[in-house]
Amino acid sequence: MERKVALITGVTGQDGSYLSEFLLDKGYEVHGIIRRSSVDYRERIAHLEGKQNFHLHFGDLGDSMSLVKVVGKVRPTEIYNLAAQSHVQVSFDSPEFTADVDATGVLRVLEAVRACGLEKECRIYQASTSELYGKVEEVPQNENTPFHPYSPYAVAKLYGFWIVKEYREAYDMFCCSGILFNHESERRGETFVTRKITLAAARISQGLQDKLYLGNLDSLRDWGYAKDYVECMWLILQNKKAEDFVIATGVQHSVREFVDYAFKHAGIQLEFRGEGLNEVGVCVGVTGNTNPELVGKTLVAVSEDFYRPTDVVNLWGDPTKARAKLGWNPSKTSFEDLVKIMVESDMAKVAAEGAAAKVRTNLAEYLEKGIVK
Ligand code: GDD
Repeated sequence: MERKVALITGVTGQDGSYLSEFLLDKGYEVHGIIRRSSVDYRERIAHLEGKQNFHLHFGDLGDSMSLVKVVGKVRPTEIYNLAAQSHVQVSFDSPEFTADVDATGVLRVLEAVRACGLEKECRIYQASTSELYGKVEEVPQNENTPFHPYSPYAVAKLYGFWIVKEYREAYDMFCCSGILFNHESERRGETFVTRKITLAAARISQGLQDKLYLGNLDSLRDWGYAKDYVECMWLILQNKKAEDFVIATGVQHSVREFVDYAFKHAGIQLEFRGEGLNEVGVCVGVTGNTNPELVGKTLVAVSEDFYRPTDVVNLWGDPTKARAKLGWNPSKTSFEDLVKIMVESDMAKVAAEGAAAKVRTNLAEYLEKGIVK
């Protein structure tokens, strides 16, 4: 029987967790690389730990020896390099760390495969990004659009993209990049704009937060559902030829539209007033159980703190090649459905947290009053 062994770096992230589920369903033996840490960051894969075909290994993209050891031990048939310092704003504060992981880290993975003599057996997927288009030179962007990276993160990722192409040509390795546009989900990190918005909408609607502060509301993105995108990562490695692909929905929305739609799903109707740093989102109506006292209040405001030194403002992907050559469906989950999935998940999460907090408060009160001992 054909060996199907996948090794995933970044397995604890949003994409790593969905990809693990997807590959386990396809009958793969799945191995993930995790970093040693004193804090627990394995929440997204907790439900997979202990499964028969799911294994974790310690390693780090900053440590070649650890990669060589894991690759040599697992002898994967496919590697998905998803690990990265993935926050664009953070890359302005930690540019050197970002370069080490997002640029040199890719080289370390490729070299680990060569060091283990697996360059002819192991296919490699590199998580590339629409941030390569940066200060865009063409709209929408496809595989032939020139790159113009516009952050330390994007510059590091550009190296990753080119070194993968170089190894493909120099050593005839099956390694390719998926140029992924923004992809979100209920597992998205809380500092990325979509999740920050859906969590805030849920908390504000349930009386646990007063206001949401954001940066550039005019920024445009092509947002897809991460669960749909991991299928395309796999399809890229099943293709006959090693090639790079844009993965996107082909539909574009602004941050403001995302806010508007998310709040609507949380029972809050907003009206945007003012411009630039003075723009605000005011509640003009509520639905369902949402507190009517929110009407007339400013719930969204702009803060300079969330502006970037250089911001990428017009990302819009053209997924024609992935649709034609891989048979991938970019329209599986619409923008509206994506926002709905995220808001519903956060509404439930916030409600559960609120209920747990209430139980804790009641218990403390009962203990203090001697009602329970
Ligand atoms: N994070 C954040 N927080 N972004 C904000 C905020 C805010 O409060 N307010 C406005 N924005 C704007 C940013 O300036 C940016 O233009 C846009 O919202 C999206 O920001 P993020 O959600 O942080 O994502 P990103 O587009 O910078 O990067 C994500 O997508 C890339 C793919 O294009 C990350 O997942 C990258 O790792 C990925 O490569």
